[in-house]
Amino acid sequence: EEAIAAHGRLCYGRERNASARGAGRIVCRPECPNALIEANPLYPAAKLRIDELNAEERAVYATLKPERLPQHVAIIMDGNGRWAGHRSLKRFLGHQQGANSVQLVTETASRIGLPWLTLYAFSLENNLRRPRAEVNFLMRLLRTYLESNLQRMMDNNVRMKYIGRTHELPAEVQEKMRWAEQATAGNTGTTLTLALNYGGRSELVDAFRGLADEMKQKHITPAHITEEDIHRHLYTAHMPDPDLLIRTSGEMRLSNYLLWQIAYTEIFVTERLWPDFKGIHLLEAIAEYQLRERRYGGLSDSVGEVEENPDQITIVAN
Ligand code: FPP
Repeated sequence: EEAIAAHGRLCYGRERNASARGAGRIVCRPECPNALIEANPLYPAAKLRIDELNAEERAVYATLKPERLPQHVAIIMDGNGRWAGHRSLKRFLGHQQGANSVQLVTETASRIGLPWLTLYAFSLENNLRRPRAEVNFLMRLLRTYLESNLQRMMDNNVRMKYIGRTHELPAEVQEKMRWAEQATAGNTGTTLTLALNYGGRSELVDAFRGLADEMKQKHITPAHITEEDIHRHLYTAHMPDPDLLIRTSGEMRLSNYLLWQIAYTEIFVTERLWPDFKGIHLLEAIAEYQLRERRYGGLSDSVGEVEENPDQITIVAN
């Protein structure tokens, strides 16, 4: 109640900060009791390696507001094929160059202490609709990528995780994935999550199946289902929702990515093709994100107290 009084609207402070989902979200006015929450607890200074940014990156980083850094950035990496096509190269080479961008962006994320980075590396639709030769190449690329970048993940304190129907991937790919996940499990910096054989709708199907099983076991009736129950059954139950979604190559689509989780996510679309997207572009996207005002369906802080009494306004029928 105190929080609502301070804001004049619902506050996303204390309760959300207490759960993993909303950790560190600062949307309170100073007079709100929730504003007492420490700014960005998930960005401890000890994890910052700003001195490892290159000069260009450091210049952009210097313009960022430390108290408004996102906790979670999700990226739809698009444009590998076009990047290759523009150079009269085979699509495969675009993917290979794209894997290089994955590593560079991950390392910049880890240097600024970004807690969560989630990359759409291979969708269910890619698996079903792309030529077998391309799918096989992507699987081989993933294995090679994990093997050859493990040391760099360790050096950058990156923890690796995956979301998606990964059990449907080839056994040797799953084995390499497990190997990289286990090897990096003790790292405490950025969690890099690769979405593999992932689809937002199939994630919801899997979540509802899990929830239905639980309800049956615990004799819970449908009227008692909450948003939190659905959240608990998502692949992403252990992480906060993305604050920022980046899509490369200019397409204005969500492509079945994290459909539940991006309800209030800020979207940044760049014309840049994924193989040309580097750490500095991540920082530029974060700078743009910091200019946005996040309202979560509420009113802008600048609106202030509503002075008009809407009861006195006559509604004119159209
Ligand atoms: C879209 O390019 C990208 C993908 C199919 C998935 C992303 C894959 C990578 C970045 C490479 C491998 C990743 C890892 C983690 C090793 P597209 O082929 O749809 O491009 P287009 O729209 O220009 O054809």
